[in-house]
Amino acid sequence: MTTATENPLLEIRKISKFFGSVIALQDVSAFVRAGEVTCLLGDNGAGKSTLIKVLAGVHKPTDGSYFFEGREMDFDSPRDALDLGIATVYQDLAMIPLMSIWRNFFLGSEPTRGFGPFKRYDVDFAKDTTRKEMGKMGIDIRDPDQPVGTLSGGERQSVAIARAVYFGAKVLILDEPTAALGVKQAGTVLKYIVQAKNRGIGVIFITHNPHHAYPVGDHFVVLRRGQVYGDFTKEEIPLEQLVQMMAGGADLEVLQHELETELRRGAEPAAEGAAADDGPSPEDG
Ligand SMILES: Nc1ncnc2c1ncn2[C@@H]1O[C@H](COP(=O)(O)OP(=O)(O)O)[C@@H](O)[C@H]1O
Ligand SMILES: [Mg+2]
Repeated sequence: MTTATENPLLEIRKISKFFGSVIALQDVSAFVRAGEVTCLLGDNGAGKSTLIKVLAGVHKPTDGSYFFEGREMDFDSPRDALDLGIATVYQDLAMIPLMSIWRNFFLGSEPTRGFGPFKRYDVDFAKDTTRKEMGKMGIDIRDPDQPVGTLSGGERQSVAIARAVYFGAKVLILDEPTAALGVKQAGTVLKYIVQAKNRGIGVIFITHNPHHAYPVGDHFVVLRRGQVYGDFTKEEIPLEQLVQMMAGGADLEVLQHELETELRRGAEPAAEGAAADDGPSPEDG
């Protein structure tokens, strides 16, 4: 288990978040260093999105502390986090499909030229910069006028990543950027994650896919039901074990046993006067 956290860029200690009586996060500690990728793994409902929202300044934690560059933080809004260079790329990407790549790139931070009544959107600068910045990430944009909606999912993710990097991200938080993508496109996004890391950015990569996390991650924080189940460096954990952990390990064995019993029952000849169907069984949330 990782205990030493020398020079973390961003660190949280014992963060809890309650929504009324729902405990979304409990005593979660994690960190990311500059030039490293921290992977945050967990099944649906594990608390990943809640944790990101705490990191991004959207939610105030119920308890615990948050440090950035060694100083304790207390954000009132996502703008506070963004101004310090903590950038978050959400799954919906906050882009407008019918608008061009360059307009989306500068959405909310439009460059201008001139003063007062002569002030106008510096279109040439926006187009040039978009092409240049995308080029730095290894993407060749032939036509920055192309609507974002015509890009593939992987390319759209990379526009969002390039934008965050250009606007000075020190920490880049990516919420399931590969979840809706095919193998090849997921590979493209993983490449940009490595490029961001190589530029010295601390990347927090959220995913439920250990096969996506493992090749790019420096360490792996496994969340389960709002708590940290483990935090492992790549040296400490082989891929197979991470897969097993994500698959639910023991839970999966129980399920397998139950399925086998069901299948055996189905194969048996129907007994006369069989017990009435007991209807839907209560589910354990
Ligand atoms: N705004 C909210 N109000 C009440 N409960 C919430 C809220 N946001 C998340 N939760 C609950 O917190 C838990 C963790 O959710 P979430 O962080 O979305 O998990 P994940 O992203 O890992 O799927 C879930 O039980 C969810 O229902
Ligand atoms: Mg989520």
